[in-house]
Amino acid sequence: MSDQHSKARQHSPKDGTPRHVAIIMDGNGRWAERRGLPRAEGHRQGVEALRRTVKAAIEIGIPYLTVYSFSSENWSRPRSEIADLMGLFKRYIRRDLAELHRGGVKLRMIGERAGVDADVVALIDEAEQVTRANETLTLVIAFNYGGRAEIARAARRLAEKVAAGALSPGEVTEEQLAAHLDASEVPDPDLLIRTGGEERISNFLLWQVAYAELVFVDAFWPEFGKEQLDAALAIYSGRDRRYGGLTQRSSR
Ligand code: IPE
Ligand code: IPE
Ligand code: MG
Repeated sequence: MSDQHSKARQHSPKDGTPRHVAIIMDGNGRWAERRGLPRAEGHRQGVEALRRTVKAAIEIGIPYLTVYSFSSENWSRPRSEIADLMGLFKRYIRRDLAELHRGGVKLRMIGERAGVDADVVALIDEAEQVTRANETLTLVIAFNYGGRAEIARAARRLAEKVAAGALSPGEVTEEQLAAHLDASEVPDPDLLIRTGGEERISNFLLWQVAYAELVFVDAFWPEFGKEQLDAALAIYSGRDRRYGGLTQRSSR
């Protein structure tokens, strides 16, 4: 077993609660359209769902939560929708930072900062700085994020070290690549939830989901909260994680 897989096993909590839950928060637009509302209203209600989910994660005692808030492919949406999403993101950080900080939430952002408006990057930097010592919940926000781009960034960082003579090509291992990802201190997700009924990864955490349990939920993201999170956790606790080996029962 490689170090990485034994690490993943160590990180599986004994009581069946995942250490790291990642969520593809999808279905805001369809939720709104079905109600004859503008898509922006779906995104606004999506922020409420995020607030409920963060609260629930703290109550349950999940140490790491990663949410997909804006993908590197979402730039292909209409300009007005991108502006709505950027506005909501900024408002969320501005309005909730103090409360998140009081609640012991450590904020981390993953994704490409180059090309993002300077005021958004400044807010991200401030949020990470203010909350860096918190320990209750690490909330990782994937913003301008693409999984392939993140792996390419890690490869570039390694290549720079090799070029500088700080690392030999033979030292480019799985562990080294993982250590150069955007939030390398965060363990791999145990559970990946996608709302909105689509069953695809959409370029999210490609490296990190290697052995995650996938749970697809029909509810649209604005409908999500503690009850839906509990339901996904119940499905997760019934899964048999084998990491290529045998079931825990038969290997005993
Ligand atoms: C998820 O909801 C939010 C983002 C992608 C930013 P969508 O906006 O993708 O909603 P649907 O999938 O069109 O319903
Ligand atoms: C994934 O949802 C991205 C986010 C939730 C931020 P999309 O709605 O962009 O994904 P596709 O287009 O359905 O694959
Ligand atoms: Mg979508």
